Amino acid sequence: MQIQWYPGHMTKARRAMQEDMKLIDLCIELLDARAPLSSRNPDIDTLARGKYRLVILNKADLADEAVNRSWKAWFEDRHIPCLAIDARSKGAVKAIQTAVMDTCSEKLERDRKRGILNRPVRAMVAGIPNVGKSTFINSLSGKAAAKTGNKPGVTKGNQWIRLNKQIELLDTPGILWPKFDDETVGTHLAFIGSVNDMIVNREELASELLVVLKDNYPEALSARYEGLELMDNGSLMLEQIARIRSCLKKGGEADTDRASGLIIDDFRSGRLGRISLEKPEK
Ligand code: G4P
Repeated sequence: MQIQWYPGHMTKARRAMQEDMKLIDLCIELLDARAPLSSRNPDIDTLARGKYRLVILNKADLADEAVNRSWKAWFEDRHIPCLAIDARSKGAVKAIQTAVMDTCSEKLERDRKRGILNRPVRAMVAGIPNVGKSTFINSLSGKAAAKTGNKPGVTKGNQWIRLNKQIELLDTPGILWPKFDDETVGTHLAFIGSVNDMIVNREELASELLVVLKDNYPEALSARYEGLELMDNGSLMLEQIARIRSCLKKGGEADTDRASGLIIDDFRSGRLGRISLEKPEK
């Protein structure tokens, strides 16, 4: 699937990130736990050079638990602290605050030795669209404080949200742009809904998703669509599901467009179970 991100938006987003980086100690990078590599922009390594780093595998509730653990270990092997969470859950807040303090313990200790006791850790949240940045900020701040605009480079006055005496969070997340290095990235981002549905052909998307699920989570497909015959041809599986789910046009023809919407929604909402699209290579 060929998908583009406008270069003009990218330049603005990069500039905004560079400005915000000057203000912070810690960059909290949000990824989608179902596709951590595709939802990651490696440019962050340059943008956040010299800053403390914390990776959050968000939407962990939708991803395979065992795979979440492997990813956590993968990042930690690369000396990047990592936490798998559901940003909507209240339980995540404590774990995040602890992780922030742990990640920045060296700075806090240095400040303490210099007699600086009241300087909080300043953090910002960054990630590509739809990974849950606003949800994360809202959960942490305990109110609907974060603006949800996804437009890169929107001029903003910086506001800090004081989480406690030791942590302050920039109220506006840093928008990273997806990096479509290969086609799989675009496809995975389209599956998880990080690419605008207007620009993808949803029948093509659903057919491709069905093949990926058949190869990796066949039992999830069989459980959700009873009677489905698993096969290599995604379009034929799509047609079967349209019939199983009574998505029919007048005259009894399979309504594959409607069935596509249903399948994509089943996947994104977790009704197909907890599914990871990417696993760390061994
Ligand atoms: P963004 O700022 O990075 O663009 O993402 P945002 O917070 O707007 O979240 C995008 C969607 O992902 C929202 O759903 C949000 O509820 C959902 N979400 C965020 N974090 C999690 C998580 O940890 N687990 C799950 N399952 N979902 C999460 P939406 O349908 O677009 O909006 P809404 O109907 O929930 O408001």
